[in-house]
Amino acid sequence: MLKLGVLVSGGGTNLQAILDAVESGRITNAEVSLVISNNAGAYALERAHMHEIPAVCISPKSYESRDEFHKALLSELQNHQIDLVVLAGFLVAVPPMIVGAYPNRIINIHPSLIPSFCGTGFYGLRVHEGVLDRGVKVTGATVHFVDAGTDTGPIILQKAVEVQEGDTPEILQRRVMEQAEWKILPEAIDLIANGKVMVENGKVRISR
Ligand code: GAR
Repeated sequence: MLKLGVLVSGGGTNLQAILDAVESGRITNAEVSLVISNNAGAYALERAHMHEIPAVCISPKSYESRDEFHKALLSELQNHQIDLVVLAGFLVAVPPMIVGAYPNRIINIHPSLIPSFCGTGFYGLRVHEGVLDRGVKVTGATVHFVDAGTDTGPIILQKAVEVQEGDTPEILQRRVMEQAEWKILPEAIDLIANGKVMVENGKVRISR
């Protein structure tokens, strides 16, 4: 049974999609063992409590340095013997200390088709603002392994979503979540939990 540690910053709809998929059997061989938020007010923490999952806030504000904050995050993950770290709307950069401790064992959901609209400064609604400003007709979401860069790790799954006339960033964000994020994040976890995801030469191969 793969122990998942889910890191969140906000509403936690992707966390909810994972919890629902575990409960309905769309994710097998994995359980959510820990939820960590950097933000004490994150509704994601409530979602974890409702499912009786250990949930903690580890905020950079509580530590004297960034290094201390990173050490606290890492030791929480290690204390719970987490096998796979899932960044589900975690809007804090994951430091090399943690990436190094979990090689190809951290995944992230990003709300665009990487390599478009990703990297530093592209997170949350800003991604969808960028999409609408550029006038692209198709966007989507990507699940990828986390490496030392920002949104540069091996891509596991992607799903395209149409941009429609009259979209606002909020409307587009919701469509990308419903049609892509809430599907491909649980699917990627299930594939990893069942040993179907291999990384070779920086690329992902999936055996189904
Ligand atoms: C999601 O759209 C996720 O893809 C995005 O933040 C949102 C969190 O929503 N993540 C990023 O932009 C990471 N670069 P949620 O808290 O409801 O899951």
